[in-house]
Amino acid sequence: MMTSSSRHSGPMIMKSALNKERLYENLLASIEDGVVVLAPDNIILTFNQGAEGMIGVSEGMAVGNNLSSVISEQEVGSLAQKAYETGKSFSDNDLSIRKKDGSLVPVSLTASPLLDEEGKVLGTVIVLRDMRRIKALEDDLRHSDRLGTLGTLAAGLAHEIKNPLGGIKGSAQLLQEELGNDERLTEYTGIIIRETERVNRLIEELLDFANPRKLSLRPINIHKILDDNIFLLSEVAKIKGITVHKEFDPSLPMIKGDKERLSQVFLNIIKNAIEAVDKGGWLMVSTRMGTEYQMVEREGRKGVIVVEISDNGKGMTQKTLESLFTPFFSTKEKGSGLGLAISHRILKEHKGHIKIKSKAGEGTTVSVTLPVS
Ligand SMILES: Nc1ncnc2c1ncn2[C@@H]1O[C@H](COP(=O)(O)OP(=O)(O)O)[C@@H](O)[C@H]1O
Ligand SMILES: [Mg+2]
Repeated sequence: MMTSSSRHSGPMIMKSALNKERLYENLLASIEDGVVVLAPDNIILTFNQGAEGMIGVSEGMAVGNNLSSVISEQEVGSLAQKAYETGKSFSDNDLSIRKKDGSLVPVSLTASPLLDEEGKVLGTVIVLRDMRRIKALEDDLRHSDRLGTLGTLAAGLAHEIKNPLGGIKGSAQLLQEELGNDERLTEYTGIIIRETERVNRLIEELLDFANPRKLSLRPINIHKILDDNIFLLSEVAKIKGITVHKEFDPSLPMIKGDKERLSQVFLNIIKNAIEAVDKGGWLMVSTRMGTEYQMVEREGRKGVIVVEISDNGKGMTQKTLESLFTPFFSTKEKGSGLGLAISHRILKEHKGHIKIKSKAGEGTTVSVTLPVS
């Protein structure tokens, strides 16, 4: 004999009519989809929790009322009507329902006839599926798809441009030699050469973004990379009257990384900092072990290193902060907007990450974290 304390009460539930009703109630409440059951005159008989969430109306407010007073979209009513009249199911995967709070919820809807044992139509069952998450995923996919197409296009175009560009630069250099000491004219050839170099750099960046190279991981000394890049940019910094401070933690271990690619990351970041500060400003490049170090070490890993590049430049607005890593986003007249997008990807490939804090008018701190492997 089974008692109420039996842990194997499953089959009992199925046998008892009362419990069966409760089971269905629980079932309806557990379904994420919205389930609405209608009587022939479109009066709502059942309205589950999923429907409550999607439409923003409580069960108590819905049951006993006409469908149109709860869901004002006419398509829903007419699909329900069609299902009832024809005894067939109808779907619409591209509907939007306005919630009571005014927001629009994309849904996929199926209206099916509710049949009794003899196949007589008793009413209609509407099942609503919330498509918000799927729509967001689709948008993401479209975005990366577009980037993919854009990448292929950009790569093709870049190759086409590089050749004639080489011709222009070569000719301008020859011309410059011919002109000799005529400063008035060599100023023009100088512009041609500089600008072709700029276009060339832009194209290199674009190609890089379109077809990223595979990483070649070796033990590297991050301080050497930072020093090299600071040296590379020191002339520009000097001309602008910018002081570059360094604060390196000498106990920092070597990390495993791609020297070229990481060098590119820090060049981008330091260059951005130099471009952001006014004459007489400063920037600071510092390194340290990550604060997560202790915790990570206990887990058997060797920790993280942190490189921080701070400046007292113009900082960023909230809007800029939100778009930083979007390819081609730039607030600069001659910016490619690829520097941070590429850096972000390179760091991700190294299982590291980049964090940016900034305040308009005060300055910016870029923190790069890299794992010690
Ligand atoms: N240190 C910084 N200070 C202020 N703004 C910055 C800094 N670094 C990046 N930015 C902002 O982020 C944008 C994107 O940077 P990036 O991807 O390197 O492209 P670009 O330098 O070609 O504009 C810049 O246009 C600028 O608005
Ligand atoms: Mg940049």
